[in-house]
Amino acid sequence: MVQEQFALEDKDFRKLSKLVMDTAGIVLNERKRAFIHGRLGRRLRALGLSNFSQYCRLLETSGGDDELRNFINAVTTNHTNFFREAHHFDYLARVILPSLAVDNADTERVRIWSAGCSTGEEPYSIAMTLAAGPRILLDWNVKILATDLDTNVIAHAAQGVYEMDRTTSIPDTHRKRFTRMRDGNVVMNDELCDLITFAHLNLLGPWPMSGPFDVIFCRNVVIYFDKPTQIRLFDRYANLLKPDGWLIIGHSENLLGVTDRFDLVGRTIYRRVK
Ligand SMILES: C[S@@+](CC[C@H](N)C(=O)[O-])C[C@H]1O[C@@H](n2cnc3c(N)ncnc32)[C@H](O)[C@@H]1O
Repeated sequence: MVQEQFALEDKDFRKLSKLVMDTAGIVLNERKRAFIHGRLGRRLRALGLSNFSQYCRLLETSGGDDELRNFINAVTTNHTNFFREAHHFDYLARVILPSLAVDNADTERVRIWSAGCSTGEEPYSIAMTLAAGPRILLDWNVKILATDLDTNVIAHAAQGVYEMDRTTSIPDTHRKRFTRMRDGNVVMNDELCDLITFAHLNLLGPWPMSGPFDVIFCRNVVIYFDKPTQIRLFDRYANLLKPDGWLIIGHSENLLGVTDRFDLVGRTIYRRVK
């Protein structure tokens, strides 16, 4: 068993936790120890190392930059699903898109950001909702930016190919209209892919885009961050949103004590007010 093969000493766990915190903002407390052990045991085996101290040393050396990427990819939690928290897509279709179709008529421009998009199910769900939304938007300059820190999930997302059993939550009408089958897998149609730009981005680092965004989805990402990191992040989101733009967060997240720049307007749906 991995646990028996590679002992994870306290000092190494502390070093790895600090590195994840400093690099990605992700908090790894004692409860995550077994998770880290299991995930990184695979890296140790792949690298032919015999203990976590050697792995820490590798990460500390200048040649460890490549491994830092693998390390971060190994410790992110990427669980996601098409139309996860379906009420958000219902709100996007019923309230946000019709309102943008009126409010943005002067610029004919719409920008949506899926921040922490994992393997892409979230941005493709946004794209399907958009493509099935107000007809006028399809003639406008409409773009979805989809970003994640984990280079593996972003590469998967950009391919737009999913195993059948991962697509059961796509409504039938959307599946027929926006996807096709290839070699037993479900493939996203070009109509969706053309709407989305995928990019690797660390939410803690600099952001190259200037916005403004109409809507930001950042769902089930900050749950892994500590309060000071959340405070900084939501302030940056507010700065990058239009003055009355929407922010959509995950079911177990909230902005209480984090920022007063948003008003709650729906279930985990906020609007910028400051
Ligand atoms: C649980 S998934 C959420 C996916 C999707 N938003 C959803 O709700 O279904 C969290 C994602 O956040 C990403 N993430 C974690 N820390 C990040 C950071 N500092 N910058 C960018 N993405 C990060 C992870 O790689 C992971 O793919």
